Formats: sequence, structure tokens, C-alpha cells
Amino acid sequence: MGRALLFVSLLSVVNCVVGTEWIGEVKKEGNVTYQCKCYSDNACWPTGAEWTALNSTVGGALQLALPPGAVCHNKVGNLSVSTFNAAACADVKANWVNEQYLTDHPVANLWPLYTNNTCLPSDDPNAPCTRGFYGSYVIVAKTKDQIKAGVDFAREHNLRLIIRNTGHDFMGRSTGFGSLIINTHSFKEASFVKKYTGPGDWTGSAATVGAGVQGRELYRQAFAQSPKVVIVGGECPTVGWAGGYIQGGGHGPLTSIYGMGADNVLSFDAITAKGEYVTASANENPDLFWALKGGGPSTFAVVTSITVKTFPEVPVAGTIININSTHTNDTAVFNEGFRIFHNLANHYVDNGMFVYFELSTGRLHIAPFVGPNMDEAKLKVVLKPLFDQLNAAKIPYDAYTRAFPTFFEFYIDMFEDEQPNQNSVVGGRLFVQKDVAANGDKIAEALLFASAPTADTFGFSVGHIVNPGHGVPVADNAIHPKWRNASSFVITNVIMNGDESWEVKQDRNNVQTNIVGKALRAAGPNGATYVNEGDLHEPNWQESFWGSNYPKLLELRKKWDPEGVFYTQTTPGTEDWSVIDYGTKLCKKV
Ligand SMILES: Cc1cc2nc3c(=O)[nH]c(=O)nc-3n(C[C@H](O)[C@H](O)[C@H](O)COP(=O)(O)OP(=O)(O)OC[C@H]3O[C@@H](n4cnc5c(N)ncnc54)[C@H](O)[C@@H]3O)c2cc1C
Ligand SMILES: *[C@@H]1O[C@H](CO)[C@@H](O)[C@H](O)[C@H]1NC(C)=O
Ligand SMILES: *[C@@H]1O[C@H](CO)[C@@H](O)[C@H](O)[C@H]1NC(C)=O
Ligand SMILES: *[C@@H]1O[C@H](CO)[C@@H](O)[C@H](O)[C@H]1NC(C)=O
Ligand SMILES: *[C@@H]1O[C@H](CO)[C@@H](O)[C@H](O)[C@H]1NC(C)=O
Ligand SMILES: *[C@@H]1O[C@H](CO)[C@@H](O)[C@H](O)[C@H]1NC(C)=O
Ligand SMILES: *[C@@H]1O[C@H](CO)[C@@H](O)[C@H](O)[C@H]1NC(C)=O
Ligand SMILES: *[C@@H]1O[C@H](CO)[C@@H](O)[C@H](O)[C@H]1NC(C)=O
Repeated sequence: MGRALLFVSLLSVVNCVVGTEWIGEVKKEGNVTYQCKCYSDNACWPTGAEWTALNSTVGGALQLALPPGAVCHNKVGNLSVSTFNAAACADVKANWVNEQYLTDHPVANLWPLYTNNTCLPSDDPNAPCTRGFYGSYVIVAKTKDQIKAGVDFAREHNLRLIIRNTGHDFMGRSTGFGSLIINTHSFKEASFVKKYTGPGDWTGSAATVGAGVQGRELYRQAFAQSPKVVIVGGECPTVGWAGGYIQGGGHGPLTSIYGMGADNVLSFDAITAKGEYVTASANENPDLFWALKGGGPSTFAVVTSITVKTFPEVPVAGTIININSTHTNDTAVFNEGFRIFHNLANHYVDNGMFVYFELSTGRLHIAPFVGPNMDEAKLKVVLKPLFDQLNAAKIPYDAYTRAFPTFFEFYIDMFEDEQPNQNSVVGGRLFVQKDVAANGDKIAEALLFASAPTADTFGFSVGHIVNPGHGVPVADNAIHPKWRNASSFVITNVIMNGDESWEVKQDRNNVQTNIVGKALRAAGPNGATYVNEGDLHEPNWQESFWGSNYPKLLELRKKWDPEGVFYTQTTPGTEDWSVIDYGTKLCKKV
């Protein structure tokens, strides 16, 4: 009753005073006072009737947000729904490391550290399951109007809003405690034209890609065109293309010849924080157009579709190299092999190549070297300095090279799928050509160090040798200008179990930021970091993720999302916002 009365009185305030928000809780942490978003234990949380009204606005597309493992448990927290379903539970267990299965789920996040490792599949239906850092409700949107309704509801009720496309994000940015989630995964449409006639100078071929289209399905559709075309996308088959990927910049196997994903965008269709439908292109809302091209995901608008340049297919040759315990157990020999490989990074990118590699103690898996516009003979010539140096140093390895008539056939054959549901704290660094040339040995040493940074931690690194500045017309967009000088971008992981205490988790964050990260920064002082695959605790993240573009991004954030409807950590304009109370409530300093 009291709650209903409060609701009525607040509603009248909202009705009378334009712009007045639902007031969240005031909380103190140390000497800082915060004003929080509204959560289910606050009076300002929407009533059941309001949720029902939202559900009717979105035509029944509102669901309770339930972790993927909920079907293995009788109950989720204190929710009054029974969730156990033996068949569904068997299914989720069988698919726990299947990326496509998880990306198709309404809310699953693929890296469970960011869900608090909550409600894992279990053999015991009575084992407790809570929602952890998952949201409260999800709109599984199929229309733009449903997205708009979600944005409006979150803004009007001061709720934490999460845009969730694939749930792939390494930094957990598509999950959030107590939030309203909008799932964009169903926006699967893609259409292709041979001649683009919209705003801007481009007159070549193009595609319009829905927000939910994933990497490999986009490549596949491009390949099905006549003539066949390619699009700059990522390396992973199931990462979304028009969601976080483009809004963070987007590197990929064709970046060294065709630029970053965000270099090739011609226009966006989006819904703003105010709930307005907008187009952002060279002609309309050019400032938003610029910001959405690399200025940070879930920051300026919800993107519903993107029109992008497509390019002619290219023949590609690839090489895979392994050095591991099959070849040597001698650490010095292994390390020298890695040093030789990585010190040639500038050489690879100067030849228009991209190289994907994995590094951990005693294991180097380079899979693959990507040689666009190369046949087997040409790629072997380009890689000759590498083989010569490895042979001269008596480093054992194995290598094989293959050529394909098209990028797509190459991609399907030589790239591998990853395994989700692993736990790690992520960081990384973009090393520029100058640092690789001057300081290559130190960079290699820092990367080797990241494999075992302390006595009780292990690392796993994923490297991308890439340069979107090589022979590519440079686009004006929000990505860090240092990308144009890139040579090697490496993600470092501090491996976790996921069930560590809060204190140990903080310690692992510290290892990533202040031990591994410190070594990377010292080795690559002129480098930068990448907002999509970076450290949530990166020092000076504004400068590190965006460099000289940051001040303009900050200004545009204030213009396009003045109230803070969107939030993901370390994106422009989030300086005053923090997730407090052990990873739960999103609050703003007052
Ligand atoms: C295995 C793996 C491989 C990867 N490979 C590459 C790579 O080759 N190149 C590369 O550049 N990056 C790569 N990434 C990083 C990738 O770009 C980011 O994880 C990106 O955020 C994923 O976007 P998503 O939309 O698929 O994911 P989600 O987790 O669903 O969303 C990520 C972020 O984007 C926001 N978002 C999603 N959709 C929208 C939308 N429509 N409008 C506004 N905001 C939205 C979310 O709110 C969240 O903040 C890889 C990641 C993984 C896990
Ligand atoms: C708040 O506390 C922190 C340490 O807890 C201290 O460094 C800072 O100076 C304090 N700020 C104010 C305004 O008292
Ligand atoms: C369920 O738990 C939440 C969070 O602890 C609490 O706010 C809410 O009142 C509880 N609901 C019921 C029906 O007990
Ligand atoms: C929303 O409405 C649909 C259709 O009536 C219903 O199946 C669903 O359970 C409702 N969602 C919630 C959260 O009540
Ligand atoms: C996160 O997990 C820890 C350890 O199990 C638990 O104490 C804490 O309550 C959890 N937080 C949430 C929001 O579920
Ligand atoms: C080591 O290299 C061999 C190829 O020589 C490969 O078959 C094997 O899978 C590699 N081992 C690891 C752990 O990567
Ligand atoms: C390295 O050690 C492993 C485990 O002892 C062994 O199986 C392998 O043969 C060794 N490799 C070499 C090259 O000696
Ligand atoms: C960085 O790249 C830009 C653009 O390609 C170029 O003009 C500049 O000289 C490069 N700087 C360095 C230090 O290599």
C-alpha cells in the first residue's frame, strides 16, 4: 500500500515536472556519496503493473532474465517461477562451450566472471541459483519499436539499461546486475547492393547489416553475392558485427588491406537515449556518425543497422606455425622462437598481412598468418626472413601453408573457433611500429612475462599483428589515432577459476593492471589500448583508449546521452559513475 502511494505521488511529480527522474537510493562508500539507479529493493522500482504495461507495449516480448543454467535448478533466487527442465538442462550442459548456443540465449554472458559465476549447470536441482550479476528483465526485441520502448522505460524509471547482442564481451559489458536488458540478437537482416548511392563519396558496393548479424554469417552472405564480396569483420565466427564490434573500432583479418571495421561504415540507423530514431551519416547527424565509429559500445545510441562498404573478394594464402612441447621443452629455445616471430611484426604488416597467435608458457600457436592477395609461393617469400631466423637459431617448429581462391574459403579452413565459459581478467596493449622497431626484444619479453606474471598466476595471450594504416585510405572516426601506427595488438588474460573470493579477484585485477599492464606499458611506451579488448582498470583509460579523440567524445556523450541512460565501464563520460556494492549497483557520484 505504501509503495502504491509512493508510486502515485512520484508519478504526479513526473507528470508535473518535465525531466524529473525517479529518484534512486543515496549510498555512501568511504567518503563518496552516490545516487544510484533504481533496483528491486527500492521504492522507485517499477510496480508489477508497470512491468505488465511494458510487456504489453512490447507485444509480450518482455521476459524475466534467467541465467542459462536456471533450467538445471528448481528456483532462481526468490522468484516465484519454477525453472527446472530436465531436457533443457541436458541441452545447456551439452552446449556449455558452444558459442552459438550461448549467443542465441536471451541473456547469457560468455565469460562467467562477469556474471559472478552464478547459477552454473548442476546435477542437483536443489542447488541454489541466483541471478548474480545478470539483469532482472529482458526484452527480446524483434522490432525497433520494442527497442525504443525499452530505452524509454529504462530512462523514465531510472533503471540500469543493458544492450545485449551476443553476450560475447570479454569485459562483461553486456551484463549488469538488476538491469533491464534489450536483446538485439534477432536483427538478422542483411542486404547487399552493387552500387551505393547514399551520402558520402563512396560509389562502390555496400551492405546494410542488422544489429544482430554475427561475423561468420555476414562473411557467408557476402560470399554468396555475385560477384562475391568481403566485409571487414572480426576473427571470431560468433562475435556480433554491428553491435560492440563496430562501436569499439573492430580489427580483423582483412584490416591490413581494407582498414578497421569502423573505417568502412557509411551510415547508422540508431535509437538515441531520448528514444529518437536517427540516421547518422556524412549528411545527417555527422557528429554522432563520427562517435559511433569507434567511440565505445553502448555509449551514444542503440544501433539497429549499419550500412558499410563491401570490397571485391581476394585470394588469400595462410600459414600455421606451432612451437610447443612437441618441439621443445627448453624455455630459452621457446622464448627465442617467440622473440624472432614477434620482432618481425612490422615486416608482416608492411606486406599487408594480419597474424593471429596464442601464447602461453611453452606454447605458441600462430593460426594463421593471413596473406591477402598472395599465393603459396608469395607467402613463403614474405615469411622467408622468419624461417631463416628460426632455422639459424635452431628453433624446432612445424609449419604448413595453403592458398585459397577467396578469403571466405581461407577463413573457414584456417581460423579456429574459441571456447566460451572460461574465466580470466582481461587486459592488453597495442604496440606501435616505432616501439616494435626500437624495443622489440623488450616487448617480446613483456609478453612472455604475461604467461606467468606471479608465483601463483598464469596467463594466456591472444595476439593480432595488424595495421589499419597500411595502404588504406584513412577514415575520420573516433578510434585511437595510434591504430594507424599499429603493429601488434595483444590481449593478455590472467587465468581464474571464477570461484575466487572478492579479495582474490581484486588481487587478480591488480596483477593484470599493475604487474602485466605495467610491463606492457613500459615495453611499448608509445602505444595505446583497445576499448573492446582491454583492461577495465586501465590507468588513464580516456587517453589510452582514444588519445586525442577523447575530449570530443566526452562532449558528444554529454550531447547525446546527457542523463546517463547508457553505461559501460571506461566509456566516454562515465567518470562519475561506478558499480558499487560488490559489483552490483550502478551509481553516480553526487
Ligand atoms: C572470442 C572473441 C573474439 C573476438 N575477436 C575480435 C576481433 O577479431 N576483432 C575485434 O575488434 N574484436 C574482437 N572481439 C571483441 C569484440 O569486438 C567485443 O567483444 C564486442 O564488444 C562484441 O560485441 P557484441 O555486440 O558481439 O557483444 P555483446 O557482448 O553483446 O555487446 C558488447 C558491448 O556492445 C554493446 N552493444 C551491443 N550491441 C549494441 C547495439 N546494437 N547498440 C549499442 N551498443 C551495443 C553492449 O551493450 C556491450 O557494451 C572478440 C571477442 C571475443 C569474445
Ligand atoms: C576520500 O578518501 C580517500 C581515501 O579513502 C582519500 O584519498 C581522499 O582524499 C578523501 N577525499 C576527501 C574529499 O576527503
Ligand atoms: C526477493 O529478493 C529481492 C532482493 O533480495 C528483494 O528485493 C525482494 O523483496 C524479494 N522478493 C520477495 C517476494 O521476497
Ligand atoms: C509478457 O507477456 C507474454 C505474453 O503474454 C508472457 O508469456 C510473458 O510471460 C510476459 N512476461 C512477463 C515478464 O511477465
Ligand atoms: C557473488 O558471489 C559471491 C560469492 O559466492 C557472493 O557472496 C555474492 O553474494 C554474489 N553476489 C551476487 C550479487 O550474487
Ligand atoms: C603442438 O603442436 C602440434 C603440431 O606439431 C599440434 O598437433 C599440437 O596440438 C600442439 N599442442 C598444443 C598444446 O597446442
Ligand atoms: C616435453 O615434455 C613432455 C612431458 O614430459 C614430453 O611428453 C615431451 O616429449 C617433451 N618434448 C620434447 C621435445 O622432448
Ligand atoms: C603514424 O601514422 C600516421 C598515419 O599513417 C603517419 O602520418 C605518422 O607518421 C605515423 N607516426 C609514426 C610515429 O610512425
